[in-house]
Amino acid sequence: MSLVVEALGKRYGDSAVFSNVSLRVAPGEFVAIVGESGVGKSTLLNCMAGLDGWDSGSVHIGGTDLGTLDNDARALLRRKQVGFVFQAFHVLPHLDVAQNVALPLMLLGQQDNARVHSLLAAVGLDGLGARLPQQLSGGQLQRVAIARALVHRPALLLADEPTGNLDPTTAAKVMDALLAQTRAQGAALVLVTHSQAAAARADRVLQLRADGIFE
Ligand SMILES: Nc1ncnc2c1ncn2[C@@H]1O[C@H](COP(=O)(O)OP(=O)(O)OP(=O)(O)O)[C@@H](O)[C@H]1O
Ligand SMILES: [Mg+2]
Repeated sequence: MSLVVEALGKRYGDSAVFSNVSLRVAPGEFVAIVGESGVGKSTLLNCMAGLDGWDSGSVHIGGTDLGTLDNDARALLRRKQVGFVFQAFHVLPHLDVAQNVALPLMLLGQQDNARVHSLLAAVGLDGLGARLPQQLSGGQLQRVAIARALVHRPALLLADEPTGNLDPTTAAKVMDALLAQTRAQGAALVLVTHSQAAAARADRVLQLRADGIFE
C-alpha cells in the first residue's frame, strides 16, 4: 500500500503548523519521521490517516485521494487499510486486553480469536488477554496498542511514538515486535519517534520542519 503526501499544509486558525510537506512511502517500506516537539508530527500522522483535515495539498492511500472521500468513506478505508498506534495508546479501559486487540476486527464485522491470541503472543503478552488495561504496565499497554493496530492486517501502519516513555530494553523489544509483524505482513510503516535507536532501524529518516520535510 503506497502513501503519497503532496504539498500538504496545515494551520490552526491563524498559525501555520507546517506547509509544503511532500513524501512517498512505498509498499512495505519503513519510514521514520523525526522533528522537534510541537513541529506537527502527530498532526501530520493524523492527516495521513484522514483523522484530521488539512488546508492545502493532498494525501493518497493506495491511489485513493482522501480529499475526495467523506468522513464515512475515510473511516471505512482506515478500518480496512490502516493501523494506527496513538501517542497516548487510546486503549479502552472497560474492555479487557483481548477485546481491545480485537476491536478493529469487530468494526469490520469479523471475529478471529486465534489471530488475537497469536498477536498477543507476538508482542510478548501471552496469557494477559483477560486483564483490564489498568492491570498492565505502560510498556505492556503500548504493546496492546501495537497488537490492536496490526490485528486486521493493515497494509499501512502509522505509529506515533510507540516507544515513548519506555526504558531502552523494553523500547527495543516493542520495536522488535512492531517490525517483525509489519515485515511479516508486508505492511508499510510510518513511525514518528524521538528515539535515535528506533529511527536508526528505518529504511529512511525524514525530518519534519515548519517549511517541509527533509531527508
Ligand atoms: N487542536 C489544536 N488546536 C490548536 N493547536 C493545536 C491543536 N493540536 C495541536 N496544535 C498545535 O499544533 C502544533 C503541532 O502539534 P503536534 O501534536 O502535531 O506536535 P508533535 O510534533 O507531535 O509534538 P510532540 O513531539 O510533542 O508529540 C503544536 O504547536 C500544537 O500546540
Ligand atoms: Mg506528537
